[in-house]
Amino acid sequence: MSIAATPGVEVLEPHECWQLVRSAEVGRLAIAIMNQPDIFPVNYVVDHGSVVFRTAEGTKLAASTLGSSVAFEVDGYEPDKGEAWSVVLRSSCPQIAVHQGAPMRGASMERHRVLVTYGSKRGGTAEIAEWIGEALRAAGVAAEVAPAVSVTDVSPYDAFVIGGALYAMRWHKAARRFARRHRDTLAGRPVWLFSSGPLDRSAEDRDIPPVRGVIRIAARIGVRGHATFGGRLTEQPGGRMATAIAKKSAGDCRNRDDILAWGRSIAEALQPVNATAS
Ligand SMILES: Cc1cc2nc3c(=O)[nH]c(=O)nc-3n(C[C@H](O)[C@H](O)[C@H](O)COP(=O)(O)O)c2cc1C
Repeated sequence: MSIAATPGVEVLEPHECWQLVRSAEVGRLAIAIMNQPDIFPVNYVVDHGSVVFRTAEGTKLAASTLGSSVAFEVDGYEPDKGEAWSVVLRSSCPQIAVHQGAPMRGASMERHRVLVTYGSKRGGTAEIAEWIGEALRAAGVAAEVAPAVSVTDVSPYDAFVIGGALYAMRWHKAARRFARRHRDTLAGRPVWLFSSGPLDRSAEDRDIPPVRGVIRIAARIGVRGHATFGGRLTEQPGGRMATAIAKKSAGDCRNRDDILAWGRSIAEALQPVNATAS
């Protein structure tokens, strides 16, 4: 039975729904990550068709950034009329823009100092990190690129991009260790993650969610976003397992244009804008 056919239930027009959403202050953000549902109450306002909420960097933010679909529910009760109402906004592909409550260090984007760091075994992920650094610098961001094993001091950086090659469904050890070792600093600054792995074109066709370990890292430190890019495997990569995989899947599945575009999107997000989800 549809809601419209339920006695005593009135289906509202979209503009009436937005009016009700505007009239309230607290809503519930519902997210599914790895098929696990979760709900978070948030204070929000409506701004030109976007739901705007402020949140500390942490699980909620990581989840809403990484979740493949999001629902936002607001409901209320009008005692005078004896009527209850409920509005649910759904998005299978939420557009999330985030801004920390306090502005980032440095008044202008040019002064953001960003570290792009990575764990890579055969160089494919290292090159992706270089491309991201290139895109950031082209957009006026002071980006430095360095292997995660070589970074000891993270204090000079305002923001981080951390990437890991995927091996057996796990991030490269150096990327995992970096995230663990510097978790306290990372938790207080904007962080983006990327993974590089699939040896086919799947990463170009759809958003591939992070592997379980990366979801845990993201939840722990709070991240602004994650992307999975295709990987690269040469015909003679060395190593028994890699050689066996290379027989079927050798090739370069990294899309440089997509990677540069992702780097540019990070540069844009570093500009001071308000947090909006629409
Ligand atoms: C032994 C082995 C295991 C791999 N496991 C995965 C995997 O679990 N998921 C994935 O997407 N790609 C996997 N890949 C593909 C690599 O992630 C891909 O080749 C990547 O570009 C390697 O990055 P690197 O050159 O920076 O080391 C695997 C490759 C090898 C050789």
